[in-house]
Amino acid sequence: MLPYGRQSIGDEEIDAVAAVLRGDWLTTGPAVRAFEAELSTVAGGAHCVSVTSGTAALHTAYAAAGIGPGDEVVTSPLTFVATASTAALLGATVVFADVEPDTALLDPAAAKAALTDRTRVVAAVDYAGHPADHDALRSVADSAGALLLDDAAHSIGAAYRGAPIGAIADLTTFSFFPTKNLTTAEGGAVATRDAELARRAARFRNIGLVREADEFRITDQGGWHQEVHEFGLNYRLPDVLCAIGSVQLRRLPEFLSRRAELADRYRRLLSDVDGLVLPAQRDDVTPAWHLFPVRVLGGRRREIYDGMRAGGIGVQVNYVPVYWHPVFADAGYRRGLCPNAEAYYAQQLSLPMYPGLTDADQDRVVDRLRALLT
Ligand SMILES: Cc1ncc(COP(=O)(O)O)c(C=O)c1O
Repeated sequence: MLPYGRQSIGDEEIDAVAAVLRGDWLTTGPAVRAFEAELSTVAGGAHCVSVTSGTAALHTAYAAAGIGPGDEVVTSPLTFVATASTAALLGATVVFADVEPDTALLDPAAAKAALTDRTRVVAAVDYAGHPADHDALRSVADSAGALLLDDAAHSIGAAYRGAPIGAIADLTTFSFFPTKNLTTAEGGAVATRDAELARRAARFRNIGLVREADEFRITDQGGWHQEVHEFGLNYRLPDVLCAIGSVQLRRLPEFLSRRAELADRYRRLLSDVDGLVLPAQRDDVTPAWHLFPVRVLGGRRREIYDGMRAGGIGVQVNYVPVYWHPVFADAGYRRGLCPNAEAYYAQQLSLPMYPGLTDADQDRVVDRLRALLT
């Protein structure tokens, strides 16, 4: 089966892991600091706090923002469940605002309409690797005195109006899962230009431990002492995985340019196929196509999904509207809440997209899709 996404791992990554395994630090060592510093250059100089997954990054970012019961987070339903569930885990109420019908990105007007005096975070999602309308969402967040968070699980390396993803929102979260634009096997990071948010994020991913003597509230202990002021978790990304990440970061430009090439090629090869809508792209962004999301018209998405998979092509659907998940339905969220997201979901199909996809593989995808649709 041709997968819809796949990692690209070479000898360099393998050698880097072996070197860490032979060294003194399997975790909390120099490879973590090096990876975070290198990540910062991709994220426009933001402080970067590595964590164990994109989900952990979201949890950490919301915790750093200090959200809890009584607070509201406005976000898109057209995303992976973790964008919302991690806020809910902290006790916040998730308010879903609809997406733009063509890009499936959080619609600033819908986000604005969803604001209340309890809104603490507006969480955008750079769906498929296409940056959301961050300037418009910044105005929305500012008007409520809320923080702007960017779930950039899909968009590391992308740019919005010339600014790199990671340097735009108050808090940006990355995922380094194998299908993503770069991988550490499992992994993620929080990027922020705000030193205080970075300090809170770093503390949350390290159990909440305070090690700075000038902050101690217990002052009569010895040199061993550390203490906790706010609860945290162990979300530390080990050196073994950060070593993979450092190599992958160096290869990111090569990965992104192949993804862009494949996206252009899909557009060229599929432009004349009836019953298919290709992904919209705004003029002011440089996307990092993590997914290539097409829309299948005529109520045929399920048939085409099954037909592609029967032909050995591992297409995917991203995503079921988050509030359809029974955990949200049980809490009273109803279908019909965000009609654009539901209409998009009903047609959406992700075609294979990863740097190792060859032109011949892609031709196979296109031929099968064309045959099924005509
Ligand atoms: C938009 C989005 N947010 C968050 C995540 C969570 O990332 P991870 O799988 O690394 O926990 C993912 C990954 O699937 C994602 O696609």
